[in-house]
Amino acid sequence: MEHLISLNDLTQKEIFDILTVAEKLKDENKKGITHHILDGKTLGMIFSKSSTRTRVSFEVGMYQLGGHALFLSSNDIQLGRGECIYDTANVLSRYLDGIMIRTFAHSDVIELAKYGQIPVINALTDYLHPCQVLADLLTIKEHKGTLKGLKLAYLGDGNNMANSLLYGCTKVGMNISVASPEKYTCPSEVIENAKNTAKETGVTVEITTDAKSAIKDADVVYTDTWISMGQEDQKAEKIKLFGGYQVNKELFSLAKDDAIFLHCLPAYRGYEVTEDVIDGKNSVIFDEAENRLHAQKAVMALLMGKEKTVEKYLK
Ligand code: CP
Ligand code: NVA
Repeated sequence: MEHLISLNDLTQKEIFDILTVAEKLKDENKKGITHHILDGKTLGMIFSKSSTRTRVSFEVGMYQLGGHALFLSSNDIQLGRGECIYDTANVLSRYLDGIMIRTFAHSDVIELAKYGQIPVINALTDYLHPCQVLADLLTIKEHKGTLKGLKLAYLGDGNNMANSLLYGCTKVGMNISVASPEKYTCPSEVIENAKNTAKETGVTVEITTDAKSAIKDADVVYTDTWISMGQEDQKAEKIKLFGGYQVNKELFSLAKDDAIFLHCLPAYRGYEVTEDVIDGKNSVIFDEAENRLHAQKAVMALLMGKEKTVEKYLK
């Protein structure tokens, strides 16, 4: 693994290695054991969109591993005034040991990785959100004891979250059903890639407009905001189209009795999910948010850490 841009680029083993390292780092963090895996290393964090979890978890994660993170708002760096990615990538590679980027166009992340000489981590584009799904998988594994053979149902917008869940679930051997209105279904190439992976891992991918069929007997129920960052102009139309995909008590009751509820957050109660579900006993949203820290520490350790130090975590 050279970068983390899409979970579709990773092997099943690479994803399980990240989860293994994350579990060990989390356990040690709880015991108060400190680390020097990223001593003297620096991570630049480019943000062209807002963030609570991603910004704080990356910055804290770097600190906990002995390194330092720099918050680079695209409003403040020259990238926001039109400096090209090629120059930005080459310049930042002379100072930093890694770059994390949250932006709109997915192609910007690919270009940054192509022209830079250091690892690039995708911290959300309009297309994918791999860091979130690594934390989601960690959370599911903690609550269910395993990933293989489980069914995840995603209800709502066929967006960056749905796309990364399609990749993440099929890679690790989980069945996935995605229910969205026809107009907002996931891109065809993502569905095709996920279906190809599903053939290899022996799982199913269901893409449907039928929320009830998707959620039936699910072990994990997932939703995300209907209005992603930068897509605020779709609000009025989406509120009309998405009503039947709201994760409420009635729909949630079709999932397994012990199903867990996940949401990447930020959440909008009364829209994609009702309070009785997101604040109910099956919701594990705060464990999920916490796991952003542990999963990303694992990613940074594996991408930027001293090889020998990291190897001990894979045993
Ligand atoms: N889930 C997530 O990425 O949250 P932030 O937008 O707060 O970083
Ligand atoms: N789909 C949401 C995810 C936020 C973490 C967005 O892109 O705004």
